[in-house]
Amino acid sequence: MMIIQEKVSLSQYNTFGVDSYAKYMAFPATTDEIISLLKGQYNEYNPKVVIGSRSNILFTKDFDGLLIHPEIKGIEIIKQTRDFIHVRAGCGENWDDFVRYCVDNDWGGIENLSLIPGTVGASPVQNIGAYGVEVKDVIEKVEAVMFESAKKRVFTANECNFGYRDSIFKHELKHKCIITHVTFRLTKQHFFRTQYPDLEKELDNYPDTTIQNIRNAIITIRRNKLPDPEQLGNAGSFFKNPIVDEQKANEIRRFYPKMPAYKSGDNKFKLSAAWLIETAGWKDRKINNVGTYKKQPLVIVNYGHASGQEILEFAKKIQQAVQQKFAIMLEPEVNIF
Ligand code: EPU
Repeated sequence: MMIIQEKVSLSQYNTFGVDSYAKYMAFPATTDEIISLLKGQYNEYNPKVVIGSRSNILFTKDFDGLLIHPEIKGIEIIKQTRDFIHVRAGCGENWDDFVRYCVDNDWGGIENLSLIPGTVGASPVQNIGAYGVEVKDVIEKVEAVMFESAKKRVFTANECNFGYRDSIFKHELKHKCIITHVTFRLTKQHFFRTQYPDLEKELDNYPDTTIQNIRNAIITIRRNKLPDPEQLGNAGSFFKNPIVDEQKANEIRRFYPKMPAYKSGDNKFKLSAAWLIETAGWKDRKINNVGTYKKQPLVIVNYGHASGQEILEFAKKIQQAVQQKFAIMLEPEVNIF
């Protein structure tokens, strides 16, 4: 029997720890429960939005519709070859528990994505990425149920239109479906991705390179650099790293020759939002209960009982400062409601 609650506090469903309320919230535990939810009376309630357990979301007001928090669990092996193992996981599995399970079984490919908060179902939406790996590199297919038809649909990785922190689920299919399962193609013969400078340095402390050691190194780096949302409300990077054309990158480099910039496709460069924010003077700044984190200004932190609105106002000030100094508009990575 699926649980549907009324007037639900959302403080435990967003890592900012912001308190607001959802009018209705449903907790389907199977694909069939999702289908019956979409065919039943609750289908009348709009808007409908799906959230994972520790979402990359900032609520700036109460949510006047139906929030769906799918709790589909389960990890199963679909097939194996000499080199690969194909693993299907339910959307409600905690992402880092899934990574740990894979690493413990010596299945490689997602060890660099250790300790990212969230669920398996949310991972393709923003194509989570860290330390030289994006989840798109290992996704084989994504299963979903469409809101309008209440029918299942399978997306190949290609159909997901993955990009940097981007996918079809943030555009054409935004608020139009629920991801129920994700199938990953993981390795049995590993291919290590250790070129990221922080990771290379940390791995010097380990006797050899294994996926377990990569996971441990990444956990150490992240714990050192990023605030733990259990202790200090935050949603990881608040903004995306902006991608600009070569001319723009060169313009800034004329004044700041040391500005980090990474080639990203033809004539494009990915700049570091953290660097732009720091250079615009917004590292470790605080207004009332909201601030940028002292070790990583790309992370906006709730130091007390800040409201979603306060956090949004603070983010806008950062955008203005960066816009004024560099004529670049930072785009939020976090979903804002
Ligand atoms: N930097 C500064 N000042 C700082 C911190 C960083 O100038 O205080 C500059 C440095 O030059 C550094 C560069 O920013 O070399 C990159 O910093 P970092 O390695 O911390 O990575 P990031 O680009 O800021 C991205 C992801 C993170 C991910 C890390 C590691 C985005 C929006 N963020 O951050 O993802 O963990 O790379 O791969 O792409 C997240 O999405 O929530 C997240 C934490």
